[in-house]
Amino acid sequence: MEKKITVLPGDGIGPEVIASAVEVLQVVGKRFNHTFHLAYGAIGGAAIDQYNNPLPDETISLCEQSDAVLLGAVGGPKWDQNTPELRPEKGLLRIRKHFDLFANLRPVMAIPSLLGASPLKKEVAENVDLMIVRELTGGVYFGEPRMRTDDGAIDTTVYSRKEVERIVENAFHLARLRKGRLCSVDKANVLETSRLWREVVEEMKKRFPDVQVEHHLVDSVAMKLITNPSHFDVVVTENMFGDILSDEASVITGSLGVLPSASIRGDNFGLYEPVHGSAPEIAGQGVANPAATILSVAMLLKYSFGLKEEAAEIERAVNAVFEDGYFTADLARDGDRVLTTSEWTNKVINEIDTSFVSE
Ligand code: NAD
Ligand code: IPM
Ligand code: MN
Repeated sequence: MEKKITVLPGDGIGPEVIASAVEVLQVVGKRFNHTFHLAYGAIGGAAIDQYNNPLPDETISLCEQSDAVLLGAVGGPKWDQNTPELRPEKGLLRIRKHFDLFANLRPVMAIPSLLGASPLKKEVAENVDLMIVRELTGGVYFGEPRMRTDDGAIDTTVYSRKEVERIVENAFHLARLRKGRLCSVDKANVLETSRLWREVVEEMKKRFPDVQVEHHLVDSVAMKLITNPSHFDVVVTENMFGDILSDEASVITGSLGVLPSASIRGDNFGLYEPVHGSAPEIAGQGVANPAATILSVAMLLKYSFGLKEEAAEIERAVNAVFEDGYFTADLARDGDRVLTTSEWTNKVINEIDTSFVSE
């Protein structure tokens, strides 16, 4: 198979974790006889510095000519005082909107060898296997008006019925392919957009009688996600609730540094990025955990290219390295030897290469 991928490293630890993920991608390509053509583009703070624009036209057109996009992370203190249009985060929001990537899939799985790194008790965290389906192109992130007023500020949460229907429908399909359970999260006791959301879920469940549906308010689900996370299968929710709940869910796995994501729209194109941000305080030190970005490559291969075996091989290699007791600083405990980003990446690459040789 021959494919084009646009790579957008971004800021902070973005370029470091992307370098690891690209190495893994190329090794998998070599092993399975695929050619991945990579084109690098600028986004976020790096693009502001170079083009005075967090998402330059050059980057958009690179992505338009590609089959998929792999992104690191954006943002950092250097640009925190910029005007809203010239913030790194604006580049990320614009690329999601431009490509209509309305469905953000954020899987959260307990990895047995990492359970000790989670602050949750082993018996609470084990067996967790859930998927947060976050609406990504609507809600308060994009609603108008948004502005500063003389004595305050305004943000607006807006959802059209169609926007809710398409993400909810996606989540139902996904639940059907998984354990058949769907938890819809809203704030229907307060918000009009949430009442619409709940109505849409109720209507749509008639078409999916095999899926078991429950509604939860976001505040109570924030608690249940920590007290009983293995209860959940597919969790579908609006943009901002999904943002918050997915960082919260990362504590189940032991670190934000292991959570991948896919942003898709229903065809083969997609944007793949770790759930975490640019972690400015550890940037440039070679200590970031690249697992989330490497696992995002696995999602890319699976969702955009249909390469299930290749994706599974990446997941297997990452798990095997954890099983062998190799960790970056975010996951290491007393007595563990701490690996740098590139040392840990090499372990994953050796794992993929070695199994290749021994077959
Ligand atoms: P963050 O996700 O960057 O970091 C949160 C915490 O997790 C920090 O302690 C960090 O050191 C740690 N961490 C994150 N990823 C890690 C990794 N791979 N390995 C080891 N430790 C890791 O969130 P933040 O500090 O709130 O935000 C920093 C910047 O990143 C902000 O500018 C924010 O806007 C941006 N951000 C970008 C994205 C994105 O590009 N998708 C996502 C979230 C935040
Ligand atoms: C994420 C991030 C982004 C979001 C920010 C950086 C715009 O937190 O991808 O989770 O809120 O969507
Ligand atoms: Mn976030």
